[in-house]
Amino acid sequence: MILMQPKKAANEQTSSIIATGVDTGAGLLKFVLGSGQGQQRVRIPAKLVEVREELHDELTSEEGGHFFYHEGSREDLKNREFFTGSLAAWKAPTSHIKLSDNPALKAEYVLHMCLGALATLPYRETWNLYLVLSSHNTQVFRDLVIEKSSGSHIVSFGSKDNPKSKVFLTVSLVVPEGAGSYGYCASYKPEPLIDRAGQVISIDYGTSTCIPTVFAPNGKIIHRAVLPVGGCIDLLEAIAQDVELVKFLGTGRAGDTEIIRQGIENRSFRYGTRNFQFQQIYLKHLKPWLEDRSRLARAEVEEWRDAAQSIVAWGGGAALPFTKEMFEKLGIQPVPEACWANSLGLQKIAEARLPMGK
Ligand SMILES: Nc1ncnc2c1ncn2[C@@H]1O[C@H](COP(=O)(O)OP(=O)(O)OP(=O)(O)O)[C@@H](O)[C@H]1O
Ligand SMILES: [Mg+2]
Repeated sequence: MILMQPKKAANEQTSSIIATGVDTGAGLLKFVLGSGQGQQRVRIPAKLVEVREELHDELTSEEGGHFFYHEGSREDLKNREFFTGSLAAWKAPTSHIKLSDNPALKAEYVLHMCLGALATLPYRETWNLYLVLSSHNTQVFRDLVIEKSSGSHIVSFGSKDNPKSKVFLTVSLVVPEGAGSYGYCASYKPEPLIDRAGQVISIDYGTSTCIPTVFAPNGKIIHRAVLPVGGCIDLLEAIAQDVELVKFLGTGRAGDTEIIRQGIENRSFRYGTRNFQFQQIYLKHLKPWLEDRSRLARAEVEEWRDAAQSIVAWGGGAALPFTKEMFEKLGIQPVPEACWANSLGLQKIAEARLPMGK
């Protein structure tokens, strides 16, 4: 009996470690904890702001969180607090930090974003996460991401006076952007979406970027190019600056891209709480937006076109409403749950590595 106890404790400890995939997008952080029925997914805008004054109220949102850092591996964060995601945009509409402004910010603030994601979930005394993250440039950012995030962090979520949570983070691996989506497609059930044995071409329609990639059999990257045009943000901005919307708003200023993003995602095409429908404006800008990017992407991978069986599309832009037929006409196959594909694939990699303790 006595001999069994330490073993049981050790088992309990390992079973409470959660394999987690983290896609630090320029526009949205995608955070996937665990798999199967108990899987939890969090998506928050990649934004943050430091809180430097007493707060009036505890703010909560599904798309953002507040954490107070008591102590832990990040000495530099001791006794500081932050709003992340939509809370950052609420608190400081114009002055918050947007991770899309500079690729280096994603590595710098990776811990803030992970804690911000946990803040949206029900309280737990202990979070023990085993992470696989993706990065646009693994060579440059791998060590920085590990240094900034791994270790133990004692925080309170929601308010500094709330009960503390201990957050243990172990970074198992930092992989190139797209590796998670590739794995997701290759292990898709009931049928894989791509053939691992052949070359695969993908186009990632992200927030800031649009990236065609050519994969060799088994997923190593042969060619990858960031297109000289932006991703979904260009579409959101075109809508925000559309004369009809600007006229309706009546201030002479462009609309708010966050409000437009939400109206598109919830398929209402309503501009916030205002009595304004922008579906026609969306459709007008969508066609050239998608066609231009797809044409440029195809030209970029032309040399490999004959060797690859298909072109798949992932990233949130591949989940935009009314694009299915357009993609079909362009000979591009959008994958299901396109915005989540990368983080779901990263979670699977984490899950596979966890028992090996790598
Ligand atoms: N289900 C959905 N329906 C409609 N639009 C969606 C959906 N999911 C995501 N999007 C849109 O996709 C965009 C975000 O895409 P994604 O999360 O792939 O970008 P990112 O990873 O943050 O950016 P990047 O890849 O450039 O770093 C947003 O404009 C969002 O509104
Ligand atoms: Mg992305």
